[in-house]
Amino acid sequence: MSNTLNLFQSIKEYRTWRKTVSGRIGFVPTMGALHEGHASLLRAARRQCDYVVLSIFVNSEQFSPGEDFEKYPRNLISECQLAEKEGVDIVFAPNSDMIYPEGFSTYVEETQLSQPLCGKFRPGHFRGVTTIVLKLFNIIQPDIAFFGMKDAQQFFVLEKMVADLGLPIEMKGEPAVREVDGLAMSSRNAYLSNEDREKAPLIYRTLKETAEILKTGESVRGTLKSARKKLEEKGIKLQYLQARRLPDLSLEQTDVLDKNVAYVIALAAFIGKTRLIDNFILEPCS
Ligand code: PAF
Repeated sequence: MSNTLNLFQSIKEYRTWRKTVSGRIGFVPTMGALHEGHASLLRAARRQCDYVVLSIFVNSEQFSPGEDFEKYPRNLISECQLAEKEGVDIVFAPNSDMIYPEGFSTYVEETQLSQPLCGKFRPGHFRGVTTIVLKLFNIIQPDIAFFGMKDAQQFFVLEKMVADLGLPIEMKGEPAVREVDGLAMSSRNAYLSNEDREKAPLIYRTLKETAEILKTGESVRGTLKSARKKLEEKGIKLQYLQARRLPDLSLEQTDVLDKNVAYVIALAAFIGKTRLIDNFILEPCS
């Protein structure tokens, strides 16, 4: 185990290091803009693995035109400081030409779980995510990969990719880290104005209440409709609010949830110009 942080900006440097180590590698892929949610993933990796590798790469392929790719925060020095504090061994921060060299034309796509929810509103997003994560997995060769469950659909899509392609990687989904008022930590929270920030906790509060009601066997349609109304009355514009079965993200055929099945109540909404996502996972009773 090493204690000092190494920053590698080329695939070659990383591969040279990788050949020298044989312990368990824990991997936390990120796009930077690190916050407490990422720190908790790094701590989980630190606890469970011999080496912790953090990647920082703002992946153009998962942003649609008009999204925030250009303005996404980039500050490698402060990211490395946080990484060092969390006991990270390696920060892998390649540049775009290294990941997507001239003429790059190979993509990987999960074709079912990636379709609903965010997939419907961000065409090409999950194709971008699976492509970069597979490429990073091939470079890093981790034993365990850690992801935040705020992005629950992303986790299930990637877990399916790992299963379908037979990758020897254990996938860990860690609970979302929240501010004291319940707002899920996200790099995009920084875009919220003071007024928007005051409204934001209503998202998780409503998700939690909705989950509690659905657990009692109430109508899914009616419950989601009132939740939607409550949020929209406060100026939160919903893109979607849905209850989906886990882990395949399919819709329930009936209007009540099955107590023996796990669900995700998933939401995407705009507060002002900022798009936020969040979810509540309903565990089965037994
Ligand atoms: O969750 C993220 O930050 C990104 O989608 C990921 C997994 C690092 C891929 O770019």
